[in-house]
This record gives sequence, C-alpha cells and structure tokens, in this order.
Amino acid sequence: MSIFANSMMKIAILNGPNLNLLGKREPEVYGNKDFVQYFGQLQSLFPEINLTYYQSNVEGELINELQRAGFDVDGIILNAAAYTHTSVGIGDAIKAISAPVIEVHISNTFSREDFRHTSFVTPNAKGLILGFGLDVYRLAIESFLPKS
Ligand code: DQA
Repeated sequence: MSIFANSMMKIAILNGPNLNLLGKREPEVYGNKDFVQYFGQLQSLFPEINLTYYQSNVEGELINELQRAGFDVDGIILNAAAYTHTSVGIGDAIKAISAPVIEVHISNTFSREDFRHTSFVTPNAKGLILGFGLDVYRLAIESFLPKS
C-alpha cells in the first residue's frame, strides 16, 4: 500500500434546518437552486477534495455529526441556519472538536432581522462567509486550500 494512498483533503459540509428546501424555500432570499444539485457542481469543481454533505433539521443530529466529522475531516463548512442564532449546544460542539469550522450563510444575516445578528457559531469558528448566495460554500472550500 502506498503511503500516499489517503492524502486527499477531507471537507464536510453540514447544513441545518430548512436547508433541505433550498430551491423551493423563499427563492427571493435563498435562490432557485436545489442544494444536492449544487453539491454535485462543487464536487466537479474540486475533484481533488473528498467532499461530503450532511443535512438535518434536528439540533442533536447536527451536534452528533459535528462530533463525528470533527475528529475525522480536515475542515467543516457549517450553515447551522436558524440554530446559528439559538444553539448553545452547537457552539459548544464546535469548541469541542479539532477540525476548523467555517461558518457560512447564504443571505447577509446582518441586513435582516435583529435576531439573525446573534450567532453562537461565530465565536468558535475559524471564519465567517455570508451574503454571496450559494457561492459562500465554494468560497469556504477555497479558504481551506493551500495558498501558493
Ligand atoms: C441562513 C440564515 C439564517 O438566519 C436562517 O435561519 C436560515 C438560513 C442563511 O444561509 O442565510 O435558515 O443560515
């Protein structure tokens, strides 16, 4: 077995509640594209990365997935959606794991209602990308790539 066999960078994308409805949900805010379709485009764009995608509407399931992936992958891209603004548990899980987490939001949460200006994710994240539509996921992947 080659020592180089498993050298692919692993990045996990985790999406929270209601993001399974992308494409159908408030298209004026979140766009028209289905995430599974977009995820396929990301995989084609970054064939050198082992990209995985997980979505749940359930807070505890997202915490379980953060704990699982958090000691396995090189980086996590997290859109905790509404739980961003409410979940101490998700914030604590990010603090507990070893993988760096990039927080993303499709919309510019700071130009929206006041309750979206609070995040339990940001203090524990490596960085935050928001407001560029689905392109935030691509930008977050780019941020993990080695700089030339
Ligand atoms: C969101 C912003 C959140 O405020 C909202 O609850 C979402 C999606 C975004 O990607 O813009 O569900 O995280």
